[in-house]
Amino acid sequence: MSTMQDKADKSEHKGESRRSFLKTLWIGLGVVAIAEVVGVVYMYLRPRKQHIKEETFGSVITAGSADDFENDSVTAFRRGQLYLVRLDDGGFLALSRKCTHLGCTVPWVESEKQFKCPCHSSAFNIKGEVLRSPAPRPLDTYTVFVENGIVKVDTNRRSKRNRFESSQVIYS
Ligand code: FES
Repeated sequence: MSTMQDKADKSEHKGESRRSFLKTLWIGLGVVAIAEVVGVVYMYLRPRKQHIKEETFGSVITAGSADDFENDSVTAFRRGQLYLVRLDDGGFLALSRKCTHLGCTVPWVESEKQFKCPCHSSAFNIKGEVLRSPAPRPLDTYTVFVENGIVKVDTNRRSKRNRFESSQVIYS
């Protein structure tokens, strides 16, 4: 009789162990699933950055002779993390490559004459003005100056702006 009781106790104990194991397993799987969801959300929301060498960023960059830049053109300076824009009237404007939404690098799409952010679809015109949100303001600018026909950009001075103004454009 006691043997049968022992067997029943052991069987019940095994059942409890199995239930406990399954409970722990489900909790573990739940934690893993939550961690994956958090990871996916983070990867989606974080700003995507390109790895750009910054040897020249934070200094005055010599862009080149003013004559080398055609009107209505955009030239990327990867190391300076900027675009040198020459407007159709010949004026120069240096724009930051960083989107004013969350800081993604914004490529210039020549065929559409727009800067288009790959992260959340903001778009900017050649002057850096917002054409499509969520970007809250135009692309930041850097100070441009022309010395003896040579265009230079001071990447130490990035300026936020709420709108494009003609005073931001430099003429040679
Ligand atoms: S970083 Fe969000 S639109 Fe550019």
